[in-house]
Amino acid sequence: MENKEVMEKIVSLCKRRGFIFQSSEIYGGLASAWDYGPLGVELKRNVKEAWWKSVVHTREDVVGLDASILMSPKVWDASGHTENFHDDKVDCRYCKKRFRSDQLEERDCKTREKCDFTEARAFNLMFKTHLGPVEDEKAVTYLRPETAQGIFVNFKNVLDSTHRKLPLGIAQIGKSFRNEITPGNFTFRTREFEQMEIEYFTHPDQAEACHQQWIDERFQWYLDLGMTKDRLRLRKHPDDELAHYAKGCSDIEYEFPFGWSELEGIANRTDFDLKQHAQFSGEKLQYHDQVAGEKYFPFVIEPSGGVDRATLAFLVDAYHEEEVEGRSRVSLRLSPKLAPIKVAVLPLLKKNVDLVELARRIKKDLQKDIVCVYDDTAAIGKLYRRQDEVGTCFCVTVDVDSLEDGQVTVRERDSMKQERISVEGLKEYLMSKL
Ligand code: GAP
Repeated sequence: MENKEVMEKIVSLCKRRGFIFQSSEIYGGLASAWDYGPLGVELKRNVKEAWWKSVVHTREDVVGLDASILMSPKVWDASGHTENFHDDKVDCRYCKKRFRSDQLEERDCKTREKCDFTEARAFNLMFKTHLGPVEDEKAVTYLRPETAQGIFVNFKNVLDSTHRKLPLGIAQIGKSFRNEITPGNFTFRTREFEQMEIEYFTHPDQAEACHQQWIDERFQWYLDLGMTKDRLRLRKHPDDELAHYAKGCSDIEYEFPFGWSELEGIANRTDFDLKQHAQFSGEKLQYHDQVAGEKYFPFVIEPSGGVDRATLAFLVDAYHEEEVEGRSRVSLRLSPKLAPIKVAVLPLLKKNVDLVELARRIKKDLQKDIVCVYDDTAAIGKLYRRQDEVGTCFCVTVDVDSLEDGQVTVRERDSMKQERISVEGLKEYLMSKL
């Protein structure tokens, strides 16, 4: 299958089965803005939960935060975003489109040959808005372009309120906004997106080693959630690619159908941000190590990933097509931790009242502990195909024999292997498999 075709199939599946819809579709759609449907929101929540569990709940040295999107505009002066956060853009006098000057070769333009570009100009990527009713310069602020600054400005609050010692990480998941010149590739590059970021504060002497540990740890996270190893790689940034605040950065990249692209960057931000905020705010943001009798600005290691990008990569990676008995079978081989629905309970005959009653009872019992659905709206073959296509890990089929022997058929998604399991032991069986 051509790569373009794979992507088209995934986009179409996402719409057809309620993972991702185009924003404002009934008004013709808003370019590069997407809404997560009933299954998409479950998948995305599972990605975020897996991340939070891995970086906050199962560690001793990271705590969480949820800072606001709107912040004092001074934050962006201090962080350097007002001055430095821009792409160089050019306008085409012929087709009237705007492009990033470093992406002219790959530009999507029907009249390529006739393009006639202006000089490159810096274009700040922050979304400007006004606080309050008066739209003057004093009221200008921005939608945050990264969640990170919410963490830096709360560094002191978190330390003072938790009495923690360094090294300490602060993790946050939240929306960020960038007025990207060339968004695209479905949910890969959008103007509104979610980030999952950690700012890990450590002693400058520990920063290099700590950077490597986070690179390894974050790479492993994708593998633990079932991502294909051969489609993941690390790429170290050359010096001329580093952001204005970074001393070093490695990206975790995934091989999407549209090529190798960044999922997450793990940067050494040095003490840049804390020093800047200390200078701009006048607050003392040095860390006082009372045991060592040392005061210093900690260095910061920042693993910064995109929720939407990770979700898209998991979807792409899970997409599987095969021939089964002369028919094409599509399945999403998502890790049970990520699958939006873990179990579907399906009665074989919807006209048999006892059978439906038993199936409903099973679903009611399972739903207390497992995300599951009940479906009797089609013949069993079709129900299986529907569930495979959305990545449901197990189908539980209740048939006439179940009424006699108290057993149901459990079908596993990837192998399609079927097993008879007693209704009594069903939940335990499924929980152990999931
Ligand atoms: N605080 C550091 C920072 O924001 P970044 O490399 O600009 O670094 C981090 O962004 C991650 O956020 C990226 O690896 C990507 O996953 C996600 N991201 C950035 N821009 C995005 C966009 N326009 N659309 C979707 N995700 C984006």
